[in-house]
Amino acid sequence: MHIRRRDDLFELWTPAKVNLHLEVLGRRSDGFHELETLMCPIDLYDTLYVRSETTGRIRLECEQVGSSLANGSIDSQLSAAGPQVLARGPDNLVYRALEYVRQEAGVKLGATVRLVKRIPVAAGLAGGSSDAAAALVAAVGAWKLDFTSRDLLRLAARLGSDVAFFLSAGWAVCRGRGEIVQPVTGIGNLSLVVVSPPQGLATAEVFSALSRSRETRSVSTLLEALRDGRISRIAGALHNRLQPVARRMSPWIARLEDAFDQAGVDGHLMSGSGSSYFGLCRSARHARGVARRLSAQGLGRVFVVQSRD
Ligand code: C5P
Repeated sequence: MHIRRRDDLFELWTPAKVNLHLEVLGRRSDGFHELETLMCPIDLYDTLYVRSETTGRIRLECEQVGSSLANGSIDSQLSAAGPQVLARGPDNLVYRALEYVRQEAGVKLGATVRLVKRIPVAAGLAGGSSDAAAALVAAVGAWKLDFTSRDLLRLAARLGSDVAFFLSAGWAVCRGRGEIVQPVTGIGNLSLVVVSPPQGLATAEVFSALSRSRETRSVSTLLEALRDGRISRIAGALHNRLQPVARRMSPWIARLEDAFDQAGVDGHLMSGSGSSYFGLCRSARHARGVARRLSAQGLGRVFVVQSRD
């Protein structure tokens, strides 16, 4: 997350993520699933502008832009995807994050917020969670609050399973519901091509369609491969337990599997609960070539991205 401040205006650039490993260890009594997942931020960003207001109202304006400002990204949004309508009230995680901070601190001030969305929604890229994490940080800054990182982590976990990941920087293994974040260092940048098809998938529906699996895979094989750095080894260790379920729920997943099989990438995987899908490339140049081929196939929005530390 990059934060800039101009007088009383806070500007936050908050990234999307992909999961390179996602294992479901079991179902919990609270209805959530116990996870072990490896996530990295990628350079596809939403931007949040926040200014404190004396009116006491939270006013949220959302703007969805079809083009990504991520370095070198190619964005071929299908017209079928259409403009997505984003909630501007309590259904929006940004609004809820501000409300939680306000309640917690007993603040009477309000805020004017503009959210510029480039990260596709319902896409397994955690755009909403990333926006929520940025909103927590912005609210603390704009309202000049004395919050500890522990206060923020507690609110993050109330907002969603992925929110805490965005409060810490860089790669991390996330456990529990996803809110127990263990940062991972020493991994080089990866070049990826991400495709978000026109149809998203609802996280809750994907998890609830999951049947119990007898075997589970540990993240350690992938971590060793990433530290070693050989792309073929990394490709061989990619894993997402939710992918077979998502494939049964959306025809786009099998289409993307086939398209990436033919696209000359070193490895490929669905991100999170889908429906976005990514391919692992040897270099940014290789990724741009792959993106050009995929863009011509009408698969959805195509982004060339790098993982971020
Ligand atoms: O926490 P978040 O709001 O992102 O989760 C959305 C839904 O995904 C949850 O309501 C739950 O149904 C499912 N989920 C799960 N196990 C997790 C994370 C999410 O079952 N670890």
